Amino acid sequence: MNEWLKSDWRAKPRVQMPDYTDVAALAKVEQRLSNYPPLVFAGEARSLKEELAAASKGDAFLLQGGDCAESFEQFSADGIRDTFKVMLQMAMVLTYGAKVPVVKVGRMAGQFAKPRSAPTETINDVELPSYRGDIINELEFTPEARIPDPSKMLQAYTQAAATLNLLRAFSKGGYADVHLVHGWTLGFIEGEKASKYREMANRISDALDFMKAAGLNSHVSNELRTVDFYTSHEGLLLEYEEALTRLDSTSGKWLAGSGHMIWIGDRTRQPDGAHVNFCSGVLNPIGLKCGPTMSEDDLKKLLDKLNPENEAGKLTLIARFGAGKVGDHLPRLIKVVQESGKNVVWTCDPMHGNTIKSSSGYKTRPFDSVLQEVREFFQIHSAEGTIPGGVHFEMTGQDVTECTGGVRAVTDESLSDRYHTACDPRLNASQSLELAFLVAEELVARRNGNVVTQAVV
Ligand code: PEP
Ligand code: CO
Repeated sequence: MNEWLKSDWRAKPRVQMPDYTDVAALAKVEQRLSNYPPLVFAGEARSLKEELAAASKGDAFLLQGGDCAESFEQFSADGIRDTFKVMLQMAMVLTYGAKVPVVKVGRMAGQFAKPRSAPTETINDVELPSYRGDIINELEFTPEARIPDPSKMLQAYTQAAATLNLLRAFSKGGYADVHLVHGWTLGFIEGEKASKYREMANRISDALDFMKAAGLNSHVSNELRTVDFYTSHEGLLLEYEEALTRLDSTSGKWLAGSGHMIWIGDRTRQPDGAHVNFCSGVLNPIGLKCGPTMSEDDLKKLLDKLNPENEAGKLTLIARFGAGKVGDHLPRLIKVVQESGKNVVWTCDPMHGNTIKSSSGYKTRPFDSVLQEVREFFQIHSAEGTIPGGVHFEMTGQDVTECTGGVRAVTDESLSDRYHTACDPRLNASQSLELAFLVAEELVARRNGNVVTQAVV
């Protein structure tokens, strides 16, 4: 078999990628990016793979979340901090409630390119190419703004580097210290889940005081004061991905240096296509979105291509069918995985199968459908005797009104209050916390053999 090359994808059919008109400018950008330092390192990608291997066995749980699309305009330190805080809170709910280590992976520091349902968009009889994310073109509805511009890759790289720098500082520099469990609460989170969180934080503080009094703190200091936080994005813009791919001298394998984990979208998972080819050659953990149109045949081929050596933690299957449809699809795909004997982590993305247009015209997701899909995911795994390994969702630490429902009851009418997403509607901080409590309860029920449904705190 010929050795895989990072440029092999170029000879394969590609979808959802821009046609750059200025090829000289594109080549210049690719050349520059290929000299820039990678954003992540092979050892980190390997550590993530080990943690995901634990999730595949039920000994850890993957929490993957962040923006649908990161934006150049809304980029701010506060935005990153608040999303990070909500992820920490959610992780704490799961760790404390369900007593599992949580693998924390942000849809951050690279989540810039978007697949679209249509190549063009028409407003008032004017048809223009679709917006494809800030790394490709601009949201503004003008012909100039929609032209793909390769130099945006350089801005994306810079923003990703700055984001990662801050995330590394937050993770290791004291901010994620579990002693600060109360301090991660965002001011606007109210209601039952907020007090539930406070109660849990009080108990954690008590436990920490006890450990300190017993002289135990210093032994576990590093574990309590820092976290491992990883980055991920859809590996969609392959010119960017290829330019950041580097040979890892330790293993002699290729590393996608753009993020710790990259995933293949539901629209770009053709087994013989460009995206699958690219992802099949890198050592990083790979995610694969599985929507209702995933056939058994395709999944079989994809398992072989994306995890040829059957490594644990290598491949995460991200189920995104929509509430009410999990039972139609998950069992048939679980069967394929079982027959293949391949190791996978099963996770649930309860966002992308539940997008609707609200009566007020906004693209939204009913929070009840999001919760319902998560419940169905757990039910099916329980019935099949397989392992629910994680959740994947779109959220933000900002107090947005993009998904309807939740304790603070965002309505169709109030969607316009703070609708800031450049792409899909995200859960706000309160909704994210509510989701975390539901997941923790499901995990507790699972641990108890689904016999008792017990409150988490
Ligand atoms: C996404 O995760 O933003 C996305 C577009 O998902 P999918 O490929 O599952 O539709
Ligand atoms: Co999305």
